[in-house]
Amino acid sequence: MDNIQKRIHQLRGQLKGHNYQYYVLDDPKISDAEYDKLLRELADLEAKLGEPVPEDSPTQTVGFKADSAFQSRKHAVPMLSLANAFSDEEIQGFIRRHRDILVDDAVIQYIAEPKVDGLAINIYYEFGQMVYAATRGDGIAGEDVTDNIRSVAGIPWSLDGDVPEKFEVRGEVYMSKASFAELNQKQQEAGDKVFANPRNAAAGSLRQLDASITANRKLSFFAYATGLGGEAYATSQSELLSKLSKQGFATQETALLKDEQAMFQHYQVWMKKRPSLDYEIDGMVFKVDDFKQQQLLGSVARAPRWAIAYKFPAEEVETTVEAITWQVGRTGVITPVANMKPALVAGVMVSRATLHNIQELARKDVREGDRVIIRRAGDVIPEVVKSLSVGEANRKPPTSVPSTCPVCDAAVEQEDGEAAIRCTGGLSCSAQLKERIKHFVSRDGFDIEGFGSKLAEALVDKGFIQTIADVFNLDFEKVATWEGMGDKKITNLKQAVESRKKITLSRFIYALGIRHVGQATATSLAQHFKTLDALQAASEEDLLEINDVGQEVAASLLHFFAEPHNQQVLQQMFVYGVVVLDDETPEVDNNHPLAGKTVVITGSFSQIKRNQAKILLQQLGAKVASAVSKNTDILIAGEKAGSKLKKAEELGVTVVDEAQLLDWLPEV
Ligand code: IVH
Repeated sequence: MDNIQKRIHQLRGQLKGHNYQYYVLDDPKISDAEYDKLLRELADLEAKLGEPVPEDSPTQTVGFKADSAFQSRKHAVPMLSLANAFSDEEIQGFIRRHRDILVDDAVIQYIAEPKVDGLAINIYYEFGQMVYAATRGDGIAGEDVTDNIRSVAGIPWSLDGDVPEKFEVRGEVYMSKASFAELNQKQQEAGDKVFANPRNAAAGSLRQLDASITANRKLSFFAYATGLGGEAYATSQSELLSKLSKQGFATQETALLKDEQAMFQHYQVWMKKRPSLDYEIDGMVFKVDDFKQQQLLGSVARAPRWAIAYKFPAEEVETTVEAITWQVGRTGVITPVANMKPALVAGVMVSRATLHNIQELARKDVREGDRVIIRRAGDVIPEVVKSLSVGEANRKPPTSVPSTCPVCDAAVEQEDGEAAIRCTGGLSCSAQLKERIKHFVSRDGFDIEGFGSKLAEALVDKGFIQTIADVFNLDFEKVATWEGMGDKKITNLKQAVESRKKITLSRFIYALGIRHVGQATATSLAQHFKTLDALQAASEEDLLEINDVGQEVAASLLHFFAEPHNQQVLQQMFVYGVVVLDDETPEVDNNHPLAGKTVVITGSFSQIKRNQAKILLQQLGAKVASAVSKNTDILIAGEKAGSKLKKAEELGVTVVDEAQLLDWLPEV
């Protein structure tokens, strides 16, 4: 790279920084004359170079432009996530895997870093100047938040000395507990939204379109990784952190540990330290320190094998049970639910928690009016740990178990050996029907976009849907008259329903919501029987041949398909145009140009829906992948193809258009 280009980059970086100081912070660091001098130098060099000048060069922009939406930025190297551990045993397993992969006498050192509870950011530097910063997004691309990052403490705008020409530095943007308290107080006084936790506050503050708001929110940063350029920069995580720290990045206190005992001890020490820290942490991250060893260990799925997050136990909180109610699920199971005085648990307001079943309810002896301890299991699903009122006088009596369904009044039954009680109302119970419909249209079922829970409930309540087949026979004109149902919504919904009428056998089986038949079983059934007809004709013996299928599943399947009402519903669906495709194409034409090829589809098409194209391509024996890589054989690019097209071109992948696609496909 020659000197002109290097200087241009440097000037653009500096000028962008000065723009920010001037326009966002009202606090210029140089005089207007000095600014103009730099700007002129840049304009001259750009002219001298004679290459197209990017739109965002300070010579092309006036003032400081706040984008109306955040631009997407592809990370040069994908941003991985971390596997979690919740016990010492899982850490032992983590270490054992390293011992299995690395040579026997390898000395493995682990670096321990607190796991900051904020949001991951990728900052890209070119020739030592910050070019952009982006959120993690899906790990492949995130949102450009450069303007907002400039006010975050712990991030230098430029780097000195020997740094890679193209360099990605990664870390966590967070809000300290003190800034969080201060912000919430201000928000409350102004009658504005109060944030549930520092993490949400940090995320909300970073996604401000007006960068001066972010600047007032006092965000901070800790660096913990690099992307592009990292391997050339350091040979270990400890070296990396110390070099980044010298460059002006904030880094955390770390320790190098050599065995599991040291790791367990260190974890305990930090758990005790946690409440006194000025920022929230939710565990410890252990990483293999040496980069060569990291590279040998590699990654699985989207997390490295060389790092793990040992999470701290869930936060437990006390609240009061206001009522115990009963909820009816998709297969009629009636579950007791504790309705509680809302309480903040690990950053989320919780007011309802399942009590699982009547045995659990009796065992925990939770009653209305009780003081209870709640937590979020795996930090997600709220649960009642125990009642603090057990043994106290003057408690309310235990909640009685319903003998009829709280929704449809049908009798309640309890099967032998089962913990659950169940409504016998079947699909005449509106609660069951609602859940059945939600499951039917869900992501892993028919995957009908825009068909949310509220819509499903309203359609059942208003009598538009009596069976799952009715999903394909909706009176859209009437639905269009409902409040909040604009033309666009209806058109989209109609299209979504239409486009999903072709479905693979495994999805179809799963969508039916047959008791005991989850996704894995549905897939096994589809692979084994290949067609719906064969599955329906299967005897108990045939079914039991499949690995995943035991007596219970077999009985449930036989019962489902023998039921005349279910047969009617299936027939009705076919009348409405549902087509069940085999999961595996029975006869793949091995001479077809797509047979065995890895194909990626991108952009929009005019003649065919992407999803339909995907199914048809799979039928032709192609493997349809979601991202372009060096293993991709063909990219099918429609209109407005973006980053995937670029990547394919870079990698030399064959690119074809819609016309070619249609040519390849059988008549549709
Ligand atoms: S390393 C390849 N180190 O945790 C490993 N992540 O659950 C990339 N996080 O997305 C991450 N503190 O947002 C790493 N000291 C730390 C961390 C940390 C917090 C976050 C980060 C990451 C998430 C994964």
